[in-house]
Amino acid sequence: MTQGAREAKAPRRFQARYRRSGASFSVQDRDLVAALDNIRNTRGAATYGSGQDFSESFAPAAEADHVPTALGVYVKGLAHTIGFKDSLQNEPEVEVPVPEHPKALTLEGVCGAFAVEAIASRRMADVHQRATDLVEKHSLEENFCIVDLATVKALFDYHRVKLPRVRPHYAVKCLPDRGIISTLAALGAGFDCASQGEVELVTSLGVPSERIILAHPVKRPCDLRCIAEHDVPYTTFDSVSELHKILASKVKVKLVLRIRADDPMARLPLGAKYGAPLDKVPELLSVAALLNLDLAGVSFHVGSSSRNPDAYRNAISYARQIFDQAVSMGFHMHLLDLGGGFTGSFNPDGTVTEAPSNFDRVREALDEIFPDDGTFPGLQIIDEPGRYFAQAPVTMACLVYGKREGTNDAGERHMDYYITDGLYGSFNGIIYDGLDLPTYFLQPNKVAPLSHQDEFEKQKISSTVYGPTCDSLDCVMRNIPLPELSNGDWLMFPDAGAYTMAGACDFNGILCSKYHCFYVWSEKMTSTATKKELEDLVYQNDRPACTLVQNR
Ligand SMILES: Cc1ncc(COP(=O)(O)O)c(C=O)c1O
Repeated sequence: MTQGAREAKAPRRFQARYRRSGASFSVQDRDLVAALDNIRNTRGAATYGSGQDFSESFAPAAEADHVPTALGVYVKGLAHTIGFKDSLQNEPEVEVPVPEHPKALTLEGVCGAFAVEAIASRRMADVHQRATDLVEKHSLEENFCIVDLATVKALFDYHRVKLPRVRPHYAVKCLPDRGIISTLAALGAGFDCASQGEVELVTSLGVPSERIILAHPVKRPCDLRCIAEHDVPYTTFDSVSELHKILASKVKVKLVLRIRADDPMARLPLGAKYGAPLDKVPELLSVAALLNLDLAGVSFHVGSSSRNPDAYRNAISYARQIFDQAVSMGFHMHLLDLGGGFTGSFNPDGTVTEAPSNFDRVREALDEIFPDDGTFPGLQIIDEPGRYFAQAPVTMACLVYGKREGTNDAGERHMDYYITDGLYGSFNGIIYDGLDLPTYFLQPNKVAPLSHQDEFEKQKISSTVYGPTCDSLDCVMRNIPLPELSNGDWLMFPDAGAYTMAGACDFNGILCSKYHCFYVWSEKMTSTATKKELEDLVYQNDRPACTLVQNR
């Protein structure tokens, strides 16, 4: 059959539509009918199944009547395989609102600037519904995340109740998200910035620089100039060399001695790189005195994801000894900085838990070792939580855009999927942060709404999920049981804000560092999923995605 004859018989544009979970996707391809004709002519209709499937698959069947019904099964399979919303041919008009700078650092101002939408609760089901609406409304096909600012407030309120004497300084490095920074600023928090870039980000949002500590013990020249330019009041140090550098820079800044005080059980101990060993402290105090520098306090970081609350007590008592010694040398010591290390999540009843860290034990240690009795006039106590504030508010969504069927070593059916984010993107945490994949909870958007889970449980297939770059190491999850996914589905990762997007890069020219952020305000605090849902839906890895040796 000639091309002209084929076009006369077939509509120029063939549209296959199917609906799942109330959302519609379509595949449009002017050449599809021609391809189908070709298949019919070469292999014969009988191979391809029944007309029943065909008529169900293509609702405006009138247009397609000329196509042999037997081919419907094939077309249906094709549609499921493609699964994108017209975007293979036409670039979608993705109109994602760009947040304004908040006019006033109040919660109202922040909600207005970041177009915050209310959702019923922080449960996965409600976030899922919002994600579904966003995909549909904005024709999304790139990574996006939903950031719940009410969760940030709940965490801040809990911190205030449990540690009333401690003013949190959010560690911006953990997730430099403007909505989270602005919300915390509106609530009265300060900020731990590690660099010029972070100082500029925080001040650009209207935060006064007096609320910032540049808590990097080894500063680059540009960071020192930035301290001077923005009048950042405090910075940390842990070496004689840094004291010399600060003196030479002529920067007027109060100094906070960072000491080493590790929690050996912390998931990510930091002490090998920063923090003066205690036996070096007398020398550092003497040099600071000789150089006439303004020593104002002591800081430490017990390690990220601390597991032993007594690590804070030990560190606080070391700090007390140094305070006493420094005061006896004539320094005006007035800043105690407890660093980060805390975790934050939600119980089903909506209360916050910081376990395995323990704010009560920290508060008790503070009250005992640094009593609020004027021993140190003007004493300010701060901490620098990163993970505590950033992890729980964020749900990341990544598109499944490719799949491959095969068999595993046991000869069983196995699926490979390719998603739009990976090890060079937000899943860099697998390398740098000991990202705890077994606790991750996957919600294939539009494929497995929570209520239909039973059906999907039956169909789980051993699956590997790869990131988008050409590096074969770029694997996010290996050999996990997943329901069969289609191109166009989304994997959802709740509680994913800490040390994920912050460290992403654009390797292979794939823009993993750019997430579309959508802001919500949950009316009700609760855990992400019930215990039963977690049992059903958390997909466990039976081995790590990739074998990597962590440099600790
Ligand atoms: C100086 C400093 N403060 C605070 C933090 C935040 O730590 P976390 O996320 O464990 O609270 C870090 C993390 O590396 C840090 O280096």
